[in-house]
Amino acid sequence: MELQRGRSFLHRCAGSGDVVHAGLVVTLLIGVWYAQALEVNTGKVNFIEVMNGSSVLLPCTYASCIGIKNLYFNWQYKDNGTMVKLCEATIPAEGVEPNVKIYHERVEFVGSSKKNNISILLHNVTFEDQGEYICFARNPKEKERNHSAIFTLYVVDELKEVDNTLTVIIVSVLGGVIGLIILIMVVKAVVLAVLSQVQEKKACVIAPPTI
Ligand SMILES: *[C@@H]1O[C@H](CO)[C@@H](O)[C@H](O)[C@H]1NC(C)=O
Ligand SMILES: *[C@@H]1O[C@H](CO)[C@@H](O)[C@H](O)[C@H]1NC(C)=O
Ligand SMILES: *[C@@H]1O[C@H](CO)[C@@H](O)[C@H](O)[C@H]1NC(C)=O
Ligand SMILES: *[C@@H]1O[C@H](CO)[C@@H](O)[C@H](O)[C@H]1NC(C)=O
Ligand SMILES: *[C@@H]1O[C@H](CO)[C@@H](O)[C@H](O)[C@H]1NC(C)=O
Repeated sequence: MELQRGRSFLHRCAGSGDVVHAGLVVTLLIGVWYAQALEVNTGKVNFIEVMNGSSVLLPCTYASCIGIKNLYFNWQYKDNGTMVKLCEATIPAEGVEPNVKIYHERVEFVGSSKKNNISILLHNVTFEDQGEYICFARNPKEKERNHSAIFTLYVVDELKEVDNTLTVIIVSVLGGVIGLIILIMVVKAVVLAVLSQVQEKKACVIAPPTI
């Protein structure tokens, strides 16, 4: 299976069949090494941290230069090495909504083929849900080539949030203490300077009558 991280949104399209020369020129010009008509993408950030008990959107979109017909897609979860299918469907043509078969009780399909969106929602996340989710797509127009993108889910609980606020509190308290020390030092320096000036003045004031 050809796995592809969703970092690039460049549509690597080269000509098909009769436009070999155009394809060659494109290849030479922009240094694309292979033609790829379908692109599956999980967006710029392909991991997310979510709190247990909440719902999370697992995003996935596709882009195709040669168009789609009976585009098959599914979502899989890598459970301790074995792939578990969460849902699957076939999009008959561009803009036609798929009839999605769902195999997981907490999965909801929220995509829309009008927006090339095949995202799902995972409800009531548990710690067991942590791991890799694979968005897989195959466009029969391309001789059964497989395309996929990986999305990693991290599940955290409220304790970690508390840890974070604790860190913030410690940092601000430390900052406050350091600030206070600096303030005290500055005030001390100013007071000392003022005192020494006052003493000098006193010395000056007291000095003349003794002459
Ligand atoms: C998340 O997990 C923690 C620890 O297991 C638990 O105490 C808490 O109730 C859970 N939160 C939700 C919203 O399920
Ligand atoms: C994961 O798989 C390994 C080997 O297949 C097995 O020994 C282990 O018990 C499994 N762990 C869980 C949590 O299922
Ligand atoms: C999520 O949990 C809530 C409360 O436990 C429950 O009412 C709801 O039906 C659950 N949703 C799903 C999709 O399981
Ligand atoms: C896909 O659809 C979902 C639900 O409507 C939305 O939240 C998400 O932003 C969409 N993703 C993209 C890349 O349009
Ligand atoms: C695409 O994936 C399917 C399994 O989903 C596999 O049977 C098939 O051989 C793969 N095709 C290619 C060209 O890798």
